[in-house]
Amino acid sequence: MRINSPKLNIMYKACMKASKSLIRDFGEIENLQVSSKGPGDFVSSADKRTEKIIIEELLKAHPDYGILSEESGVINEKNKTNRWIIDPIDGTSNFLNGIPQFSISIGYEENQEIKNGLIYDPIKNELFFAEAGSGAFLNNSRVRVSKKRNLKDSLIGTGGPKSSSKLKNEIFDEFFKISQKVEIPVRKFGSASLDLACVACGRFDGFWQRELSYWDIAAGIIIVKEAGGFVDFLDEKVDENKKMNLIASNSLIHKELLDLIKKKNIEKN
Ligand code: IPD
Ligand code: CA
Ligand code: CA
Repeated sequence: MRINSPKLNIMYKACMKASKSLIRDFGEIENLQVSSKGPGDFVSSADKRTEKIIIEELLKAHPDYGILSEESGVINEKNKTNRWIIDPIDGTSNFLNGIPQFSISIGYEENQEIKNGLIYDPIKNELFFAEAGSGAFLNNSRVRVSKKRNLKDSLIGTGGPKSSSKLKNEIFDEFFKISQKVEIPVRKFGSASLDLACVACGRFDGFWQRELSYWDIAAGIIIVKEAGGFVDFLDEKVDENKKMNLIASNSLIHKELLDLIKKKNIEKN
């Protein structure tokens, strides 16, 4: 790892240990026992196994640190100073369908500010990571956001809506608005953390998505920022206990993308 960071080392160790079991499970996808967690949202035994390994490793290093994790919820709730935020598999539907586009995502917060992020795509063996003030990396190379200046020429990613969403019409409307402005069709790859990693390394010029959870994006936020990008929320008040509406970009196309998303329907044409 190119950054000499005690926190990233702990995250890396936990992630690599968990990824071994995750890769094994991906190879045996048909045998996995899948249980339904709600419409459009599934959780597999692999999800829980991966999370267990990550949590065990992180607690071994710091038994008192707080944890917010998708499947287990909150651990050591009283610790507001140091906290890990974990999504054991981001891109569950891809995983369950045998599509190699998912990640392990781990963020680290100090005094409620994200300091470190690590996103690992175990199939492509791509490790994205960042520490505040030290830049963003993909494996051994420094990454930076793209230099595109116009939305028209940009490659934009998005995701959702979930079948349970009450905002489907608005979300499809946004998709329509953005799609009309860009020459390259908008991408939907199904893993928000990897979408943010794509912004960080310049594969995407921008990404927006409504109704995300904090564990989907905690690691990605710092990775995009450290790569020179801009991360913003469409909400006036951002609350991690609620769904979050995020927009991330290379900075240069940010205003154009944001203005378009915020534009009222009536002004569409
Ligand atoms: C999902 C993925 C997906 C996004 C969903 C998330 P999960 O996370 O990030 O890209 O569209 O909103 O819930 O369920 O695979 O961990
Ligand atoms: Ca997720
Ligand atoms: Ca997940």
